[in-house]
This record gives sequence, C-alpha cells and structure tokens, in this order.
Amino acid sequence: MHDMKSIEAHIKSFESYLEKETIFPKNRLRNLYEPCTYFLSNAGKRIRPTLCLLGAELFGPISDDAFNIAVGIELFHNFTLLHDDIMDEAPLRRGETTVHLKYGTPIAILAGDVMSIYSYKYFTKVSPSVMSKVLSTFNKMAIEVCEGQQLDMDFEQRDDVSIEEYLEMIRLKTSVLIGASLKLGGVVQNATEDQLKNLNSLGIDLGMAFQLKDDYLDTFGLKEEIGKLPGGDIRSHKKTYLYIVAQTLIQKENPTLWEEAWAIEDEVEKVEKVTQFFKDYKVDEYILKMIEDYSKKAFEEIALLEKSGLNTKNLETLANYLLNRQH
Ligand code: IPE
Ligand code: IPE
Ligand code: MG
Ligand code: MG
Ligand code: MG
Repeated sequence: MHDMKSIEAHIKSFESYLEKETIFPKNRLRNLYEPCTYFLSNAGKRIRPTLCLLGAELFGPISDDAFNIAVGIELFHNFTLLHDDIMDEAPLRRGETTVHLKYGTPIAILAGDVMSIYSYKYFTKVSPSVMSKVLSTFNKMAIEVCEGQQLDMDFEQRDDVSIEEYLEMIRLKTSVLIGASLKLGGVVQNATEDQLKNLNSLGIDLGMAFQLKDDYLDTFGLKEEIGKLPGGDIRSHKKTYLYIVAQTLIQKENPTLWEEAWAIEDEVEKVEKVTQFFKDYKVDEYILKMIEDYSKKAFEEIALLEKSGLNTKNLETLANYLLNRQH
C-alpha cells in the first residue's frame, strides 16, 4: 500500500496557503468575485499544485516561490475549467452546479478571464532570478492549452480523427499543464536543465494517463464520484480514445449500426446505446491498457530521477493514486 498521508499533508499545506492569501477581494464587485471564490474554494483534487510542491521538494525545503507557483497554477487550471464547462455545456462540476448555469455565461467568462490574470499576480511574486524562466515556461504552456481546447472542439465536427491526432490533442489540452506544474516546482528550486526536462516528460506521461482516465470515467464513472454528469463526452460527440477504437472495431463489422447509434435523438438513449457498444467491444479494456502504458513510462521517468540521487517516494505515491483513482 502506498502511504497517502504525506501527499495529503502537501494538499493541506497548499489549502492553508490559499486560505491565508484571500485571493479575491471580499467586499467589492461581488458579482464578479463571488463566483470566483465559489469555484476555487469548492476544492477539486488539487493535483497540479501538489505536483508543483512535490517537484520543488525534490530539491530542498519547499520555498514560498514554490507555493506562489502552485497558487498560480491552480488559478490557471480553474480558469480553464470555467471556460471548458461553457464550451462543453456541462451542468455539473465538483458535485455542484457549473458557474455558467449558476451565475450566467457572461459572468462565467469574465470570472475565468480575471482568474487567469490573477494567476500572473502569483507567478510574478517569485524571485527575480527565476521569474523570466517561470513566465516563459508558463506562457508557452498556456498557449498550448488553448490550442488543445480548440482541437478538442474541432474534432467534435469530424469523424475521421486518428489516434495520433487524439493523443496530440490531449497532450496539448491537459498534459502540458501537468508537465509544467512539476517542472516549475523544479525551476524555482534551481534544478538542472536535465532534471527539468525529466520532470516535464514525467508530467506529460502522467498527464496522458490522467486525460485517458478522465475520458474513461466520463463514460464509466459514477456521478457521485466524478462530480460531473457522466456521458458528457458522448452527448458532445467528443473524439475520445473510446470513440476512436470503437469506431474502428464496429465499422469493420457493421458501419450502419454505429451511425444509427450516434443518430439517436434522445440523449439518454444515445448515451446508453453508445456505452453498451463500448462495453460489448471491450473498449474499456483498451483504454485501461493505454493508461497502464503511459503510467509505465511515467514510472520509468521517476526511476531516472531516483537514479540521479533524488528521493522520489512521494512522486511514486501520487502516480499510483492517479493510476487508481475513481474520481
Ligand atoms: C479536469 O481536471 C480537467 C482535465 C484536464 C481532465 P481535474 O480532474 O484535475 O479537476 P479538479 O480540479 O480535480 O476538479
Ligand atoms: C478539459 O478536458 C481540459 C481542459 C480544461 C483544458 P475535459 O473537457 O475532458 O475535462 P472535464 O471532463 O470537463 O473535466
Ligand atoms: Mg472539454
Ligand atoms: Mg469538459
Ligand atoms: Mg472529460
């Protein structure tokens, strides 16, 4: 069994830092800041800030710089979710009504915008000696996330998305942020270029496994556990690994069956029918295998870091938790 206690301690220390900071003004512009606070304080898993702290800890006691980066990263992540839920027309997030449904889309857009700008407030708190590297790493990543999100939407309209295209899309929309979270933890603690590269590729592999698992849970997870409405990817006609593998398998046998399922007007019925296809063709096993492959690569990256003399026990624990999560 992997001991999650140490990871939980990191999450707790991040939460206390967040609380102490009072990120958004309390007594002015409530229409803008209340939704921001509502969303940020309904904590998600806090994977990215935790990875940032774990990346930093490899090189010495966690500095204030690392905490500020962790806050900036979580703000940026929350901004992407506010806009993602508008784009994906999602009704539920972290077990609560999404911000655009609770407060309206114009407010959700602006709350997301202001959160992304607040993230810079935290990135620019770091020591001048590392700030330029922090900002250039962050900016490159943030542009890639937007590119990935556009590809994700473009693919909704297409029926010929390849596995390679899908993997590149999830690398951009999800993995690069997880890679940057780990890497930035190292940047502010003056890790070497080799170590930073190593941290980044570890994060990318973890991120690939993470998004594949997210896609798996979107269809096979429980609403109470994932805090989202399952079946959202099917409703939005998302091109996930599940979709692409099932399409390849079913179309070989009977192309009309597949098309008929997607043409079903009633959304509940469509989700049921497509999920049944995924089960019948054991597509869930394919995706779980792919998750394992990326996790294996991640553990190899961790082993490399360990070989260079770093204590990677906590990273290993977190990687195992991500692999086994049901939410
Ligand atoms: C959701 O991320 C967006 C994806 C990249 C899949 P998380 O699953 O980490 O969301 P929270 O922060 O824990 O709610
Ligand atoms: C989200 O991907 C990626 C980003 C927010 C950048 P999803 O759309 O799959 O995330 P969920 O499932 O809504 O959390
Ligand atoms: Mg999305
Ligand atoms: Mg979404
Ligand atoms: Mg998803």
